Amino acid sequence: GSVDADIFFCGEAPGGDEEKQGEPFVGKAGALLTKIITAMGHSREQVYIGNIMNWRPEMPTPVGNRPPTPEEMAYCLPYLRAQIEVVKPKIIVALGMTAVNGLLGPDPARRMGAIRGQFFEFQDLPLLVTYHPSYLLRYATMKTKRLVWEDMLLAMENIGLPISEKQRGFFQ
Ligand code: URA
Repeated sequence: GSVDADIFFCGEAPGGDEEKQGEPFVGKAGALLTKIITAMGHSREQVYIGNIMNWRPEMPTPVGNRPPTPEEMAYCLPYLRAQIEVVKPKIIVALGMTAVNGLLGPDPARRMGAIRGQFFEFQDLPLLVTYHPSYLLRYATMKTKRLVWEDMLLAMENIGLPISEKQRGFFQ
């Protein structure tokens, strides 16, 4: 991504496609993330896309993914902190619970339904929580799409991006 990005998206870990290409979010979830970024009036090149993990968590088989362990997340956190320090974004968008737990530290009482659309703080920056694009692919209803879109509108408002009437009405 751009080192001048205003928006820093943080996902979980590279999957099979990402591992092959050496780039984050290039598979199906990535295609959806790209659509979301475009709907916000940005291009992928204008934002920064990172992950809690910089590599795919090792699997006994070549297919499938597993979530990173707390130890793996803690090991990678300094790299993520360094990326955020270099980019100095205006906002961090945490995509899914692994991103939230990786950034804020694990909390078993945390529930995505309760914290999405809410702002936290990370390295003195606003950290907004939303669903992971993979969740959106699994539950591709207008309701879920609208929830994520409302979170993106919050992110845009927070950093002073212009929002058109058309954009306000997406997925209604
Ligand atoms: N999902 C993620 O969380 N990160 C990627 O890079 C790809 C899929």
